[in-house]
Amino acid sequence: MTSPRKIIIDTDPGVDDAMAIFYALSSPELEVVALTTIFGNATTETSTHNALALLALAGRSDIPVARGADVPLVATYKGPVAFVHGADGQGNAGIPASPTPAVAESAAELIVRTVMAAPGEITLVPVGPLTNIALAMRLEPRLGENLREIVLMGGNAFCPGNVNPSAEANIHNDPEAADIVFGAACPITMAGLDVTQKVQMTTSDLARIAAMGNPRAAHLARILPCYVEFHSRYDGLDGIFVHDSTAISYLLAPEAFTWSEHPVRVDCGQSFGRAKTIADEAVGNDNAAWAGRTAVRILTGADSRRLVELELDRLDRG
Ligand code: BDR
Ligand code: CA
Repeated sequence: MTSPRKIIIDTDPGVDDAMAIFYALSSPELEVVALTTIFGNATTETSTHNALALLALAGRSDIPVARGADVPLVATYKGPVAFVHGADGQGNAGIPASPTPAVAESAAELIVRTVMAAPGEITLVPVGPLTNIALAMRLEPRLGENLREIVLMGGNAFCPGNVNPSAEANIHNDPEAADIVFGAACPITMAGLDVTQKVQMTTSDLARIAAMGNPRAAHLARILPCYVEFHSRYDGLDGIFVHDSTAISYLLAPEAFTWSEHPVRVDCGQSFGRAKTIADEAVGNDNAAWAGRTAVRILTGADSRRLVELELDRLDRG
């Protein structure tokens, strides 16, 4: 077997972040070398508490957690989305604090140090706003060329947003950072709403998590009702969209996806298009703003049932 792929998950946990973290931890193909935290679903303070607590619950406090930025690069953080993920980011279920603290380095510092020590080996998996990644790129301008890949959850190239018709939540929280990251000099895969809203877990799938009995699954079963309620109220779903875990699924089973590849810019204007991820589909004759940028692999379709079964199988391993 080839050695596991080294990933850093940059996260704002978050109900679906917790699922993605446990999914990655239970997958032998992946080695989670660090978690870095960011505001988004909750404040960075709460995200850091949750990241540490999730690792403690999983018996993986050996994995370092580095605290990230508290605010976007230029915008103002709009605050936690308690109606989606609960006031504590963990479905209002609470999670006991870990005895292990965050490391002294910032998220950006940890990312730079880890990537530069292992050129071409590290894959960044951001599943929250992209502030830390942009800060790391500023700190080390050669970061992109030393990354293996960025596989991120965020954006909406060919479908409406979920914050408003233009914007997806992670990009909406820091569009300026996202525009920097989509300009990184490494392969970039975007698991945005174009694909994550096509991967769905039903309430029967979620009942299988509740029946698994291991501590990780038991925690997910406690925090999921809040997230299910949100999807029922806002999207009319009997279940959930699988956002953050879809980035993990892509790492495990890329052949289960379809995509198209285009450079991406993020609208950083101050009008109603703000935070829209705009793919250059070679329309028109003045594409200078997209020229020279990496063609981002924008995931557009997936074998939803296969990916749901894969994730349930991994979560069942505990
Ligand atoms: C993204 O926003 C957050 O609420 C989720 O954790 C996910 O990362 C989906 O738009
Ligand atoms: Ca997230």
